[in-house]
Amino acid sequence: MATLGRVFLTRGLGPRRFFSYGTKILYQNLEAFQSKFFPPLQKPMLPPNSFQGKVAFITGGGTGLGKGMTALLSSLGAQCVIASRKIDVLKDTAEQISSQTGNKVHAVRCDVRDPEMVQNTVSELIKVAGHPDVVINNAAGNFISPTERLSPNAWKTITDIVLNGTAYVTLEIGKQLIKAQKGAAFLAITTIYAESGSGFVVPSASAKAGVEAMNKSLAAEWGRYGLRFNVIQPGPIKTKGAFSRLDPTGEFEKEMIDRIPCGRLGTTEELANLAAFLCSDYASWINGAVIRFDGGEEAFISGEFNSLRKVTKEQWDTIEGLIRKTKGS
Ligand SMILES: NC(=O)c1ccc[n+]([C@@H]2O[C@H](COP(=O)([O-])OP(=O)(O)OC[C@H]3O[C@@H](n4cnc5c(N)ncnc54)[C@H](OP(=O)(O)O)[C@@H]3O)[C@@H](O)[C@H]2O)c1
Repeated sequence: MATLGRVFLTRGLGPRRFFSYGTKILYQNLEAFQSKFFPPLQKPMLPPNSFQGKVAFITGGGTGLGKGMTALLSSLGAQCVIASRKIDVLKDTAEQISSQTGNKVHAVRCDVRDPEMVQNTVSELIKVAGHPDVVINNAAGNFISPTERLSPNAWKTITDIVLNGTAYVTLEIGKQLIKAQKGAAFLAITTIYAESGSGFVVPSASAKAGVEAMNKSLAAEWGRYGLRFNVIQPGPIKTKGAFSRLDPTGEFEKEMIDRIPCGRLGTTEELANLAAFLCSDYASWINGAVIRFDGGEEAFISGEFNSLRKVTKEQWDTIEGLIRKTKGS
């Protein structure tokens, strides 16, 4: 039975361009047969100019999913401000995106672990672009490790970026928006194991759970100021940043796809479309939501009997016969 799961994996659709925003084009050909029923649409879902006149602030906007969300928001008319530690990467991304969309993208160096730097970044954001309409807490750090190998410093680094960094950004921008009496949509990018927890990524799981609690709490408390808060929990999407630290040998990718009922990884463009929708006025009444975006991975992992998909028709005939023969309860 153990080999049967792999049957799905051997009939991939062949290599194809994986996503278009990364610095390096990634290819993958591990998709399961059923992925042909779930084609990722790469084009913008929202009408052109949906974010015309709006300002979006995206942490970690220079790479991966943050870059994808920035590119889409910019193409829909937003003026974007992206912030993270590596200013060269941010500047490259900003230039690349604004040359494609014709809309300004500003790059600001910021380590979200440092509250003073966050404060200065928010001042800079307001100075160059104005108070934001969209705030995306996307920056994160993570790596796989047996928990007993973690030093206090490793724990602090991850939780400082993910939980404290999100808090500093949210508090500082929130205070400024409340003062200016301006509404905005906040979005946090967490992960499917923020709810379930997961071994080997314990600082990340703990911090992301905190980020979800923070966003749900503020959805309740700050609605009165015109601020709404939502969360996306992505399943695996192949970005260089995530996969180099979470699947450094490339061994786990096949396993990941095998447990995703849609038979493939997610794409940056799909995530960007969902994020743009949640931050747009089309989603004005969506507040305090945590949206799982994972091709069914979490449902598959958590269902006790889901491994039975490996049972063949012949084996089911035998099993059915045995069950029918059972007498009594
Ligand atoms: N890709 C996936 O499969 C996946 C799945 C679930 C959740 N996610 C979440 O999606 C988000 C984006 O991840 P990704 O896959 O796009 O990986 P990524 O490219 O590595 O993105 C992480 C970003 O965070 C920034 N960052 C890290 N430390 C920072 C700090 N101290 N201050 C400010 N910025 C910092 C990085 O920029 P600098 O290095 O320049 O600081 C980088 O741009 C993360 O929240 C991640 O947890 C991803």
